Amino acid sequence: MAQSFAGAAWSALTSVAPQWRNRHIRDLFDQEPQRSSQLTMSGAGVTVDLSRQRIDSSVMTMLHAVAQEVDIEEARNAMFRGERINTTEDRAVLHTALRMPRDSQLIVDGRDVIADVHEVLDRMATCSESIRNGSWLGFTGHRIEHVVNIGIGGSDLGPVMAYETLRPFSQRDITFDFVSNVDGTDLAEVLKRIDPLKTVFIIASKTFSTHETMLNAHSARTALLAVVPGNDVAAVSRHFVAVSTNEERVREFGIDPANMFGFWDWVGGRYSMDSSIGLSTMIAIGHEHFAAMLNGFHAMDEHFRTSPIESNLPVAMALVGMWNRSFLGISSTAVLPYDQYLHRLPAYLQQLIMESNGKSVTLTGASVPVETSAVYWGEPGTNGQHSFYQLLHQGTSPIACDVLIPAKSHNPLPHHHDVLVSNALAQARVLAFGRSADEVQAAGTPDDLIAHRVMPGNRPTTLITVDQIDPFTLGAIVAMYEHMVFVQGVLWGINSFDQWGVELGKELATSILPFLTNSDSLDSFDSATAQAITWYRKRR
Ligand code: F6P
Repeated sequence: MAQSFAGAAWSALTSVAPQWRNRHIRDLFDQEPQRSSQLTMSGAGVTVDLSRQRIDSSVMTMLHAVAQEVDIEEARNAMFRGERINTTEDRAVLHTALRMPRDSQLIVDGRDVIADVHEVLDRMATCSESIRNGSWLGFTGHRIEHVVNIGIGGSDLGPVMAYETLRPFSQRDITFDFVSNVDGTDLAEVLKRIDPLKTVFIIASKTFSTHETMLNAHSARTALLAVVPGNDVAAVSRHFVAVSTNEERVREFGIDPANMFGFWDWVGGRYSMDSSIGLSTMIAIGHEHFAAMLNGFHAMDEHFRTSPIESNLPVAMALVGMWNRSFLGISSTAVLPYDQYLHRLPAYLQQLIMESNGKSVTLTGASVPVETSAVYWGEPGTNGQHSFYQLLHQGTSPIACDVLIPAKSHNPLPHHHDVLVSNALAQARVLAFGRSADEVQAAGTPDDLIAHRVMPGNRPTTLITVDQIDPFTLGAIVAMYEHMVFVQGVLWGINSFDQWGVELGKELATSILPFLTNSDSLDSFDSATAQAITWYRKRR
C-alpha cells in the first residue's frame, strides 16, 4: 500500500491545517448556509451529517486526494479479495465474508469460504432454536432458562453490545449474562442468580487459551458439577458449548465437538460479533433477526465497496476523523448515543477502534510521523449531559463527538422520545456553535458572569441518524465503523488487524502470578513491583 505522508495531497493539508485550527464552525455556516445538505450522505439506512465538522468543500477535496494517493480503492479491494493484508500475522482480513449471502462465492486458499460460513450459521440456527423452543434439555431434564456467555475483548464486547441493543427483539423468558472479568466477582454474581442445571454456558474464545476466559470457564464447570447428581462429567456436554477456532482445546475442555461453532483465523476478535461469536445474540433474537443483522452489515459492505469515495460513508468518517486527529490535534472522540439500548456501543467501539488503530509504527516498522487513533469513550445521552458534558462544552481541549439518534423509539412513552431528540439536537448545536460573549450579554447576564457563561463551541460533531435501532441498522452502523477503522489504518500506513501491544502485560502477569503466593526472592523485579508484591503477600 502506498504511504500518504510524503504525497502532494498530504502536504497540501499540512499547509492549510494551521489556519483551520482556529476557524469556527459558526463562521462556516455563515459562509455556506446550505452546508448541511452538501455534507450529509446516506447508505444502508444510515445517514451521516458532517456539516458540524471543521471542514469545507476545499478541505474535503484535499482529503479525497489523500485517499486517492494511498489508493484506498485498491486497498479496499485487496481486503475484500481475501489478500493477506494483516502482514504481521500473515492473515487475510475477511470479516466481510461473514455476512455475504448464501448464493455468493469467495474462494480463499482453494476453499469456498461462503459455504463454510453458512454451514456454521445453519448449525448455530439449529442450536439456538432448540434452546429458544425448549427442546434443548439440561442434564437433569430441565429446559434452558439462562444463557451465560463467557469471553473477553472481542468475544464479549460485541455479544453484550448486540444483546443490549437488540433487547426489543429478544426472547424474554431466557436471561442472558456476560462474564468477562477474571475478577471472580463477575462470575460469582451471575452464579448467584442462575441455576446451572437450567443454563447453557457459551465459552467464547477465538484461541480458547485466553487466561481470563479459561479460568472463568473452569470455575463455571466446577459450579455446574457441584449441583449435578454424582458430579457426573457427562453433564458438561449438555450445559457447555464453545465458540472458537481451536477444536483441540475445546475437546480437551470436555465440550462435545458437535456443540462447537467454529470460525476462522481471518476473523479478528474485535471483528467477530457477526461470526459464531454471536451465538448468544442468535439465541436471544432468533436466527431470522440475526440474518437481518448480517444483511445490515452486508448492505454497508456493499455501500463501502461500490460507492465513490466522495459519497462513501466509512471513507468520509475516516477522512474527517483523520483530519481532526492528525491535522487539527483533536485527541479524543466521545460517542454519544441518544438511545438507551445502545449504552454499550461506546465500550464496543473502544476496542474496535483503539485496539485496531492505537499504533505508532507503519507496516514497514517505521515510526508514524503523525498522531494516529483518537481516544474513544462515551455514554448515552442524556446521562452524559448531567456528567461530563461540562468538559465537552467548556474544557480547554476540544473533543470531537459522534451523536447517534434513531427517529423512532421502541418504547414510545408519551413525550419521552421528543424530549430525548430535542436534547440531542440542542447538544449538537451547542457543541458546534457555542454561545458568544455578545449573545450571553444580550441575554441579560451580569458582566461578572459573562466569561463563565460563554460556550466556545467549535467542537467537531458528527450527527448519525437511523429510522430505528433494529438488527439491520445495528449491522450497518457497526460495519460503517469497521470500515472507517480500515480506511484510517490505510491512511496512516498501519496494520489495523494485529494487537501486539496487549501481549507484554499478559506475559508479565504470568510471570508475577507465582510470586504472589510463594516467598521467593523478589530481586528480579523492579522496586515498585517488588513493593506491591510484598504488600499483597502480607495482606491477602
Ligand atoms: O488481548 C486482546 C485479545 O486478543 C483481543 O484481541 C481479543 O478480542 C481478546 O483478547 C479475546 O481473545 P480470545 O477470543 O482468543 O479469547
